[in-house]
Amino acid sequence: MKLTGRITWSALNKMEQAVDKLHREEMTGAKSDQTKTTHFGFQEVPESEKSKRVDDVFSSVAHQYDVMNDLMSGGLHRLWKRFAVQLSGVKTGSRVLDIAGGTGDLSKLFLEKIGPDGELWLTDINLEMLSVGRDRMMDAGKLPPVCQCDAESLPYPDDYFDCVTVAFGLRNMTHKTRALKEMHRVTRRGGRVIVLEFSKVWKPLEKFYDMYSFKLIPLLGKLVAKDEDSYRYLSESIRMHPGQEELADMFRESGFERVDYFNLAAGVVAAHRGLKV
Ligand SMILES: C[S@@+](CC[C@H](N)C(=O)[O-])C[C@H]1O[C@@H](n2cnc3c(N)ncnc32)[C@H](O)[C@@H]1O
Repeated sequence: MKLTGRITWSALNKMEQAVDKLHREEMTGAKSDQTKTTHFGFQEVPESEKSKRVDDVFSSVAHQYDVMNDLMSGGLHRLWKRFAVQLSGVKTGSRVLDIAGGTGDLSKLFLEKIGPDGELWLTDINLEMLSVGRDRMMDAGKLPPVCQCDAESLPYPDDYFDCVTVAFGLRNMTHKTRALKEMHRVTRRGGRVIVLEFSKVWKPLEKFYDMYSFKLIPLLGKLVAKDEDSYRYLSESIRMHPGQEELADMFRESGFERVDYFNLAAGVVAAHRGLKV
């Protein structure tokens, strides 16, 4: 399914129905492996293609990523990330895994929190994003271990980390429940997983938010990052991501308990938290 030209409200409703169907299929495993499709923004693509497409997006935007984040959120993403660190409950000496850590914002905040006795891994599937992240870390005089890996198949032992986090990465993953189960596996009993992600905005703000997402964001992408398509994907992927309650259900299905979430900026973003018992 591909949208071109103007986006209408009825088209957006159809998208919502399609994404509900895809999420149901992901949760129930309803389709056979050969026929499985997923969404890449508003397009329906074979599952086998999604991670390559996502990889292309982040390779393309890696060097403008940080400046675009500040522009698009008016700097708010920094506060959201600080909030995620507060929720995590990590302290001096904790072990933290930052999945889809990209250019390393969250990792930097965690390093300040855990101090020299802690252990933090900055990881991402995309080499360009990770390289920018590693360089930024080095410029800040920090040298955590950096690992290129897929969240759906983590190269870490069971029950190892006190906290596992993902900021704005989950919606790009092909099998979100698979990734959540991996996060559960590598978290120790009593440890937490925090997912910071775009979510469903407060209903009265929806039209305004859609205008911002589908007009302003691609325009900024075009002017600043010289890449309108990648930023259109960003807006579309946000729209296709499960809402607050649905994601909380996916946490529970992946084994987490005492799952809760906090809406930030009227639900533009939500921070989900789950405990491994
Ligand atoms: C929007 S960026 C977020 C970067 C950073 N966490 C932040 O908040 O600024 C999304 C990141 O998710 C990564 N990503 C996408 N799919 C992934 C996967 N399956 N496993 C690990 N990382 C993934 C991308 O490469 C990209 O760096």
